[in-house]
Amino acid sequence: MSQILKTQVAIIGAGPAGLTLGLLLQRAGIYCVILEFRSRQYVESRVRAGLLEQNSVDLFSELGAADRLNKEGLQHHGVYLSFDGLRTRVPFNELTGGRCITIYGQQEIVKDLVKINLERGVPIYFEAAATRLEGIDTNSPKILYTENGEEHMLECDFIAGCDGYHGISRKSMPGGSYNEFQKEYAFSWLGILAHAAPSSEELIYAYHERGFALHSLRSETVSRLYIQVDNNDKVENWTDEQIWDELEIRLGNNKGFRLNRGEIFEKSITPMRSFMIDNMQHGKLFLAGDAAHIVPPTGGKGLNLAVADIKWLSAAFVDWYKNNKDEPLLSYTSKCLPRIWRAQDFSNFMTTLFHKQAAHGSFDYHLQKSRFNYIIQSKAQATTIAENYVGLKEI
Ligand code: FAD
Ligand code: PHB
Repeated sequence: MSQILKTQVAIIGAGPAGLTLGLLLQRAGIYCVILEFRSRQYVESRVRAGLLEQNSVDLFSELGAADRLNKEGLQHHGVYLSFDGLRTRVPFNELTGGRCITIYGQQEIVKDLVKINLERGVPIYFEAAATRLEGIDTNSPKILYTENGEEHMLECDFIAGCDGYHGISRKSMPGGSYNEFQKEYAFSWLGILAHAAPSSEELIYAYHERGFALHSLRSETVSRLYIQVDNNDKVENWTDEQIWDELEIRLGNNKGFRLNRGEIFEKSITPMRSFMIDNMQHGKLFLAGDAAHIVPPTGGKGLNLAVADIKWLSAAFVDWYKNNKDEPLLSYTSKCLPRIWRAQDFSNFMTTLFHKQAAHGSFDYHLQKSRFNYIIQSKAQATTIAENYVGLKEI
């Protein structure tokens, strides 16, 4: 063992969850260390989410971490939903009492959060992979990690497992300490980033008989677009021109929609998955974000759920250290689960509404279409979508 470090809260993972927790603990005067398996350059350029709920933006602002987000983020007050070329707009302002969403790339948030954590003195060890957790049932849990090929130990009071779906934290929970729920979908998303002015000011989610498409954006000059592909499809199977042609067809409406094209500078395929566990803690180990749950990205909820977990977890740590209270830590899971289940349901709803899963013209297709038409007919249904999409305040 080359080095033994000590801290109060050891955080595994410098994604949105771990980095937000770092700032919240630092603000409360609680020591923490963040271990991150990847390099700083890697985490700052990993392209993923773009949609932030008001709740998440408010927390970053409160933490003094939203200067660039407030300047460069794009506020959206509505979203377009499309089915077989028929398009409707769901206006958030009117249906949710003025709430909205903000579009700002996850890698930009990660850049901002890394910088501010380091400026405020939160140590982040990059290229440090947690390999084993010990003593999570005791008062002195430990993380064994490797850095530069050497094994080190981090002793702490608590471990925050913010290491994503593939991390070691969830796998370190004892067998039988949680139930797992899982749903795999028969399709994936091929996502691109392109130097092309957005073709719509607001997002467009579209069902087409050739499959789902999503129009999103990152700035006035960068578009973010996705199409539904088969699970075994490969990026190499698609030329840039084929991707643009497919997007143009699927996003088309019956009012002459034109898609702006440009240089594609990022392409990747993401599988769709719903995953959930019903217990996010054991002893001194607490899971947050993708380590505990995955939603398909159709509702734009994953990052926002990670931040929502962290709000509860950080408040519980603060109560433990500052007020000697352990009840908030003990009830951490039960505080998080209702919001996560709501997001699971909404993400599944949006996924099944807009993806092609059944033959065009089949019974299931007609149910999908009827559900879409109901959004146009019923203010109640449009409101249900709007309030889930911008994020529920209360839970
Ligand atoms: P992660 O971001 O996965 O971070 C975990 C970190 O832990 C990683 O940096 C990893 O390297 C590190 N790690 C793993 N194992 C170890 C180890 N053993 N030791 C040390 N470090 C380790 N969400 C939204 O809210 N809105 C959207 O619009 C949206 N769109 C998406 C689009 C796509 C294509 C995808 C793929 C996802 C999208 N999401 C969206 C989901 C969102 O990106 C995730 O939910 C979010 O990254 C979760 O944050 P996290 O901090 O929990 O986990
Ligand atoms: C994105 O901009 O990357 C994005 C937006 C909305 C989603 C998913 C991804 O539902």
